[in-house]
Amino acid sequence: MIRPVPHVQAMAPYALAKMEAPPGASLLSLSQNESLRPPSPAAIAASSKALMDGALYPDPDWSELRENLLSHFMISAGEVLCGNGSLDLIGCIARTYSGSDRAVLAPEHAYPFFRSAAQMAGARFDTAPENGVTVSVDNLLGAVRPDTAIVFVANPGNPTGTRIPKSELYRLRSEMPDDVLLVIDEAYGEFADHIGESCFDMVAGTNTIVLRTFSKAYGLAGCRVGWGVFPEFIASEVQKVMNPNNIASASQVAAYAALSDQEYMRETCALTASIRDATAEQLRDVGINVFDSSTNFLLIDFFDAKAAQSADSFLRSKGAFLRPQSGAGLPHMLRMTVGSEEAMETVVDNLKNWREENTP
Ligand SMILES: Cc1ncc(COP(=O)(O)O)c(C=O)c1O
Repeated sequence: MIRPVPHVQAMAPYALAKMEAPPGASLLSLSQNESLRPPSPAAIAASSKALMDGALYPDPDWSELRENLLSHFMISAGEVLCGNGSLDLIGCIARTYSGSDRAVLAPEHAYPFFRSAAQMAGARFDTAPENGVTVSVDNLLGAVRPDTAIVFVANPGNPTGTRIPKSELYRLRSEMPDDVLLVIDEAYGEFADHIGESCFDMVAGTNTIVLRTFSKAYGLAGCRVGWGVFPEFIASEVQKVMNPNNIASASQVAAYAALSDQEYMRETCALTASIRDATAEQLRDVGINVFDSSTNFLLIDFFDAKAAQSADSFLRSKGAFLRPQSGAGLPHMLRMTVGSEEAMETVVDNLKNWREENTP
């Protein structure tokens, strides 16, 4: 029997959400941080039309989408690369710059795919302790070793939902060795853009990449379009390991149209934030601990892994699927995507019932 290469054989498969509603209950999917609204009507119309040309391969260089991103974000330094979701870009970056003799570093409770990307590249994955659920730049700096090649940081973080101030990211960049690649993953950046701390300007003249996605605020998770700003000399290397024709034509035009409809995306972010903050308050009112969030999800702390498992099973039995967080080193927590008001009401009511049944 043929065996995979050792570093692949040693890997566990990446754990995606498993969701199946029990008989009689309808499925409430709150485990993947998808948008609470469908994509912009302009995106739906554009992608439906693009299917007419479905016999043809897509634009391999995402030219129109790339131009739209460059001008919308007024990016003057660096190149834009688009991926089949930002997962694609994270994997390509890890394959290009890490390996058996070059390690990857991330915060302790970082997005678990950073670890998977390092493992796929055969690289050691190191972590730096956080201050509770907030990234510590001092600890990251202290964890950089002579063979550290890439530092991945999501801002805001997933599953934590917390933000690192831009000044801290500047400090990380300036105090870290210049030749370590810093990847700032802003998958939830649109939910925090009103604070005005996006890091695109850090790309100029440094080994820094900033990633974004159309999967969250733009509601296009099913279209698989991520993108990032890369220094030119890094973009040309990463592109070598990307699959050609990686984004379907219908997805490229959907992303283009969604980007052009900023008003719709801003409405989605505002609606999400208002439901998120109201839900956090309701949960706190019934004695459930929730962290403040700058994203489209909430992290709930049950202080005890068994209690988190029990609440998760209770909710699943009602058809509501949250995301357990053992994979991010937080087995006592569950992450809940912000859904519609009705969806949040269902979860809050069920958690209230769970507490009543489980309080001695
Ligand atoms: C921090 C972070 N980065 C990247 C991704 C991947 O997003 P996508 O591949 O859909 O663009 C996610 C998805 O949940 C995420 O939370």
